[in-house]
Amino acid sequence: MSLKVVLGALWGDEGKAKIIDYLAEDADVIVRFQGGCNAGHTVINQGRKTVLHIIPVGILHKDVQCIIGNGVVIDPLQMLEEISDLEEQGISLAGRLFISSQAHITLPIHIFLDEWNEEKSGKKSIGTTKRGIGPTYSDKYSRLGIRFGDLQYPKLLSDRIDNLIHHKKELLHKWLSQNDIEEMRQRLLAAADKLKQYISDTPFLINELLDEGKKVMLEGAQGTLLDIDFGSYPYVTSSNPSVGGAIVGTGINPHRVDTIVGIMKAYFTRVGKGPFPTELKDETGELIRKQGAEFGATTGRPRRCGWFDVPAAKFSVLINGFDEIALTKTDVFSGMGKIKICTHYEYLGKKIAKFPLDQFVFEKLVPQYISLPGWEQDISDITDFDRLPENTRLFILKLEELISTKISIVSVGPDRKQTIFRN
Ligand code: GDP
Ligand code: IMO
Ligand code: MG
Repeated sequence: MSLKVVLGALWGDEGKAKIIDYLAEDADVIVRFQGGCNAGHTVINQGRKTVLHIIPVGILHKDVQCIIGNGVVIDPLQMLEEISDLEEQGISLAGRLFISSQAHITLPIHIFLDEWNEEKSGKKSIGTTKRGIGPTYSDKYSRLGIRFGDLQYPKLLSDRIDNLIHHKKELLHKWLSQNDIEEMRQRLLAAADKLKQYISDTPFLINELLDEGKKVMLEGAQGTLLDIDFGSYPYVTSSNPSVGGAIVGTGINPHRVDTIVGIMKAYFTRVGKGPFPTELKDETGELIRKQGAEFGATTGRPRRCGWFDVPAAKFSVLINGFDEIALTKTDVFSGMGKIKICTHYEYLGKKIAKFPLDQFVFEKLVPQYISLPGWEQDISDITDFDRLPENTRLFILKLEELISTKISIVSVGPDRKQTIFRN
């Protein structure tokens, strides 16, 4: 491997961090390419839990260099907190963390606007993480944004803030009556003093590291079904978590990509609003939520749970061209009796095998399932695929057949070592 892209195939929280942390043992460099502090990435190693929102998971491996690519949006104040939490754990970032000068900055104003949009939308709200993601990307595309590199130039930074406020003054009336721009400016300048050591021209850096033969892994956030283009718009995030985002979010050209790994869960979850054909609103959904500890790592919200949806997963395979899949949370099914998989849907009496791209279709979509026998044993200590109970293996092989993609990694627990690698 010299370049591996590892990304979420579903609606986020697939266990990306757990798998990337596992794969990081064989990497020199890890790069985040999109999203921001909306991500909640949980790593558990020898019982120690770390939740990261903006810094790549590779930071937990002392010899791995970490890069935050141009496609990411960064809240500098949140980032400072994350850096100091890591430093308290004895993890050093100097000389290991590089932040793209072209990445955009999330300001308190963006967080306010995110909250404002949600409140104004009432029943039609998206259920965002309220981390200012949508407004930061909107300003990026409106060419009003502030970039990480601007932190090096106080005068430029100040002018960019004034320009943003000028454009939004009327809109921000309420924020301006409760907050002081000068205070925000000073906090940002103080943050800049601490963060500017990490600023880097990352498109050159990443390509040079590849030229040197370094093993580089790109770390996705969110998931393909939340993609601004391919997800269930408007119930999506404001970036491209799918494979295209890995290209534009880093400055690596597609020829350099060797392997694309998709992370999928043995069942589906979604946090926030939007269509979810296989959602279980009954006690089985409750049981999965409880056994899988399905509560958001960023907002603490209970995650909606449902059966594995093959048309949705196949759509993700189509968009991303996964070479292989890592399947997480298989252990959650232990003791659950029957396991269902949605193979297709029915819509107005007709069979549909493709994931619908039209929002109106979802309301009348009826998922069609096959049932597989479950297993009783706890599988969380098994490290060899052949030692898994027969029904666990049958379930995995059936999924593999249905999505026509090799499942090369099976995760059987949250800890780094609870991972089965299949040759
Ligand atoms: P991410 O956003 O995709 O990195 O996933 P999150 O960290 O938000 O959520 C995944 C949760 O599942 C975390 O609490 C992980 O520790 C946990 N987890 C990951 N893989 C497994 C697994 O195979 N089994 C179990 N039981 N938990 C897992
Ligand atoms: P990780 O990286 C799951 C969801 C929100 C909401 C929608 C838009 O941990 O998998 P946003 O704040 O991005 O504007 O919210 O996207 N969402 C996630 N769901 N995992 C995530 O990240 C998510 N990041 C955003 O719940 O539905
Ligand atoms: Mg998460």
